[in-house]
Amino acid sequence: MPKFNLKGRNILITGASSGIGKELSKCFAAEGSNLILGCHPSEKDVLERWATELAGKYAVKVSALPIDLSDDKGPENLYDFVKRSVDRIDVLVNNAGILHYGCFSEIPLQDHESLVKVNVIAYLKLMRLFMTDMIKAGEGRILNVVSAAAFQPTVYHATYGSSKAFIQSLSEAVNEELKGTGVKVFTFNPSYTKTPLLNRGGFPVRIWWYRVSGLSDPADMALKAIKAFKKEKAVYIPGFRNWFVHSILIRLMPRKFLNTLSRWALRGEC
Ligand SMILES: NC(=O)c1ccc[n+]([C@@H]2O[C@H](COP(=O)([O-])OP(=O)(O)OC[C@H]3O[C@@H](n4cnc5c(N)ncnc54)[C@H](OP(=O)(O)O)[C@@H]3O)[C@@H](O)[C@H]2O)c1
Repeated sequence: MPKFNLKGRNILITGASSGIGKELSKCFAAEGSNLILGCHPSEKDVLERWATELAGKYAVKVSALPIDLSDDKGPENLYDFVKRSVDRIDVLVNNAGILHYGCFSEIPLQDHESLVKVNVIAYLKLMRLFMTDMIKAGEGRILNVVSAAAFQPTVYHATYGSSKAFIQSLSEAVNEELKGTGVKVFTFNPSYTKTPLLNRGGFPVRIWWYRVSGLSDPADMALKAIKAFKKEKAVYIPGFRNWFVHSILIRLMPRKFLNTLSRWALRGEC
């Protein structure tokens, strides 16, 4: 199988104005890829400045496309805009995400709904839309930024963990269906990472679980994600400890014990 070279490729990254998406955009630009970067319209200026900085530093084409992915037609509008500006997207990085921390019964219904729209519906729609073109071209990659939260219930951010479990299952199943087409779907599954997602979502400053998982650095996560992408790893959980916990240990634990552990370990500490 020929190597999927990133130089000169067109890459779309959603949620590239901060955190992991912003760091991923730097890594892809360093590989010589041309980028289309998305964000929420409220961060338009920030993203445009970042796009100009990347284009200047790495001599690649970078454009900014601020579209609200929680809008009913947000993903479709993003697809249409992209199709008008480039002939094809070689790599789709589904990364934009939101989190709300708290008891399910106390988080407003509209917050649950917008989370599902951004973390689930937008990923699914963009995958489906761009994949059709990739299959026709006989080549393409979709990198879904998921989370280690995909592998077990996440008490106090139940909808967030559920949204990640949905995308994990979807990605792995679709990747199997795509065998022989030249198109592949990968997931990147970091554990808790120091980005605005946690602050904005009201995540506690400290939880007991950080003693096991640590709190990762987004730049380090992005470097590891690109390395795994180039090695064509279908599912990648960075860090030995997190990999061991989420792919081995939790499969051996009784479900009841796992859920109690999740409630206890994900509670805020003073
Ligand atoms: N931080 C963690 O602990 C962690 C761990 C594992 C996985 N992840 C996943 O990593 C991905 C990136 O998150 P992050 O931690 O880097 O958080 P972040 O810095 O908050 O980045 C999230 C990005 O999503 C964008 N976004 C949010 N709502 C949007 C909307 N309605 N329409 C369009 N764009 C929207 C944000 O744009 P604005 O800034 O313009 O709002 C931002 O660019 C997410 O999928 C997250 O679930 C995060």
